[in-house]
Amino acid sequence: MTNTTDTTASATAGKATGLTPDEVESQLTDTVIASFAGTSDARLKELLTSLVTHLHGFIRDVRLTEEEWNQAINFLTAVGHITDDRRQEFILLSDVLGASMQTINVSNTPYKDATEATVFGPFFVDDAPQIDNGGDIAGGGVGQPAWVEGVVRDTDGNPVPGARIEVWEADEEGLYDVQHDDDRVYGRAFLFSEDDGSFRFWGLTPTPYPIPDDGPVGALLEATSRSPMRASHLHFMVTAPGLRTLVTHIFVTGDELLATDSVFGVKESLVKDFEQQPAGTPTPDGRDLGDATWSRARFDIVLAPEGV
Ligand code: BEZ
Ligand code: FE
Repeated sequence: MTNTTDTTASATAGKATGLTPDEVESQLTDTVIASFAGTSDARLKELLTSLVTHLHGFIRDVRLTEEEWNQAINFLTAVGHITDDRRQEFILLSDVLGASMQTINVSNTPYKDATEATVFGPFFVDDAPQIDNGGDIAGGGVGQPAWVEGVVRDTDGNPVPGARIEVWEADEEGLYDVQHDDDRVYGRAFLFSEDDGSFRFWGLTPTPYPIPDDGPVGALLEATSRSPMRASHLHFMVTAPGLRTLVTHIFVTGDELLATDSVFGVKESLVKDFEQQPAGTPTPDGRDLGDATWSRARFDIVLAPEGV
């Protein structure tokens, strides 16, 4: 690997010009930024200028050593090596650094009472089975049955009929179907809201699970004494014409991982009661669950207009 941090050259330039080390450093930042002057894409120019400003600022703030920079490059190389069609370590890195969540924050500015967004995660697939309202997304996945219902509305309070609601979740072992080496499908489906905006389905009471931690991101978590565990959650993606697509989850009241979610995805407004129902409690649709306990949760969804 070539050495990209030849400090000798800048120090010599500083001596020859009589500049202080501080002036040499800021002159380099200015020179790199000036090198983007010919960028015709104005947004690209803005992104690169800000990136270089912050990156140089970071290097100068922490007085980064060449050894540390090489370690960082080796770390990113390892992140690249473990990444393939099934494993996306760069997204995990972005998630555990809060970069995914911060991008969501700035891209989904709060609008009236629109439901808040959170991380997409790597386990969505776009060919999940369709279910009718009241159907079961579990698809054989193991876990406690959970009845989930709500209404989709716009920010003027009007019901949104025909909203496409994608839901996906891990089973009680903490695994998504796509984490198995076969083609099994469980814990995912899509359905449409009714004319009055309402929707309902059976799923599984969410349980906590770890993000994949057997790679460099796991090593980073270990080195910082952080847990890979995600707070228990159920994913939603809701789309409707003319309205802003909502990617979110609901979390479970009382889950002790709410404060330490490994990807910083928890928002208070998304924490919902999954009320435990003793065995034998009649179900909303008359489904016979035998002697199994179950839970029920309500999630009313408000979609912002597109483009706000
Ligand atoms: C998830 O919720 O599925 C997820 C989010 C970020 C990283 C890993 C998993
Ligand atoms: Fe998840």
